[in-house]
Amino acid sequence: MSHQLIRSLLFKFDAEFSHDLTLKALSLSNKMGLLSFLKAPHPSRLRTVMGIPFQNPVGLAAGLDKNASHIDALGKLGFGFIEVGTITPRPQPGNPRPRLFRLPEVQGIINRFGFNNIGVDAAVENIRLSKYKGVLGINIGKNFNTPIERAAEDYILCMKKVYQYANYIAVNISSPNTKNLRDLQETKALNILLGQLKQEQTRLNDYYGRYVPIALKISPDLTSKHLDAISKSIIKNRIDGVIATNTTINRDSVSDLSNGKEAGGMSGKPLFNMSNSIIRELYLRLQGEVPIIGVGGISSGEDAAEKINAGAELVQMYSGLIYQGRKLILDACHSIG
Ligand SMILES: Cc1cc2nc3c(=O)[nH]c(=O)nc-3n(C[C@H](O)[C@H](O)[C@H](O)COP(=O)(O)O)c2cc1C
Repeated sequence: MSHQLIRSLLFKFDAEFSHDLTLKALSLSNKMGLLSFLKAPHPSRLRTVMGIPFQNPVGLAAGLDKNASHIDALGKLGFGFIEVGTITPRPQPGNPRPRLFRLPEVQGIINRFGFNNIGVDAAVENIRLSKYKGVLGINIGKNFNTPIERAAEDYILCMKKVYQYANYIAVNISSPNTKNLRDLQETKALNILLGQLKQEQTRLNDYYGRYVPIALKISPDLTSKHLDAISKSIIKNRIDGVIATNTTINRDSVSDLSNGKEAGGMSGKPLFNMSNSIIRELYLRLQGEVPIIGVGGISSGEDAAEKINAGAELVQMYSGLIYQGRKLILDACHSIG
């Protein structure tokens, strides 16, 4: 069945219901061996980023497989890497439904999930049971009821628990759906947090004899001044990578659409230019010293190539997959080369 047909059926249902159904169908198809027949993406040159070899530069962004329960199936779609999470120390239900909204007129999405997840122990168990052998990023966050002054404890606890299973750890301080989380991007708080995470990484590296890079995931709603301070802090604390960007709280281009005023973070096409500007500004400041993983609004192969031109070494996607289907992964691999 074509993606357009499946999409027009799924779009008749509530967005979260369709999302869950799609993932279940994907895992079932994998168990039935159906995903083994999928066409492989255009061969890419191998690239090493953050010390990790990537077969291709196109990854799955965090949030689609929050509990790491569909890694094997997602791993068959042709991604060069998969990021699971955001995972928090304790399980939590997230915000009340509805909390996922489509903006089909502009191929956008608004979500206010609020880190619904099964908690780090159960997610690690899923990862342990998976057969996926590709590059795995594990995205970590804090529980909604951990006071912001104690956020570092949550990140460190998750880091300890996921370290041996991750190829890289993504530190999410940029979701708009956990109260005050984005305050961690402020200079003083960020310096303290990154210093603590670096210390823990050094300890874990000594213990396991394996270095697992840390990538910081940032918001698209930052000013140039913020970016100055964040870039300095990343370099000073020897953080290994930056993921730019998370979803935006800006609604300028969509406020007249039917779901355009929903609270939460917006992703998809309306985010594309915003996140590209952040990547460009970051690239100027980091000068190639710290690699950028570009994410936000990719909906064609050309969009993926534009992220690389803006300064990213790898890209990720989420919303575009909902509107375009798997073809987007193949197109992005082809366009980046
Ligand atoms: C429904 C939904 C849930 C998301 N959940 C997370 C999350 O748990 N952690 C995270 O770091 N980013 C999360 N994101 C943000 C994406 O990883 C990505 O940064 C953002 O959507 C921009 O990319 P896109 O325009 O290709 O979707 C989520 C995005 C969506 C649409």
